[in-house]
Amino acid sequence: MRLALTLAALILVAAAPPTKRLSVTLPDGEGLLPERYGVSADAANSNCLACHSAAMITAQPRLTRVQWGETIAKMRNVYGAPIDPADDKAILDWLVAD
Ligand code: HEC
Repeated sequence: MRLALTLAALILVAAAPPTKRLSVTLPDGEGLLPERYGVSADAANSNCLACHSAAMITAQPRLTRVQWGETIAKMRNVYGAPIDPADDKAILDWLVAD
């Protein structure tokens, strides 16, 4: 039985048409949040882009540091975002940089 399966698999593989060359365009970093006024976006990039696009984040209205803190807490507590509390300060620094 196992031999028959192996043979069948080999025949299928052998009968498969030659693989076409696929052209895949990889993201080139344009989807990342940019540094703002010298403040690095690294923490926001690694904590927010799993669920949101950079454009969604940058399109947000200006909020205060406290309001952004509440948003981060909501992402973590309501939506289960695995945001390391040690990153909160760096994320907030970037969100309110101006
Ligand atoms: C685990 C996924 C996840 C991560 C990570 C995440 N969010 Fe969200 N976020 C959501 C969901 C779900 C919603 C609600 C639906 C929506 O608006 O897209 C939301 C909504 C929002 C909103 C809309 C306003 C609001 O309060 O609902 C903002 C602003 C936001 N997120 C910012 C952030 C920022 C900033 C980060 C990084 C610190 C982040 N999110 C990380 C899942 C996530």
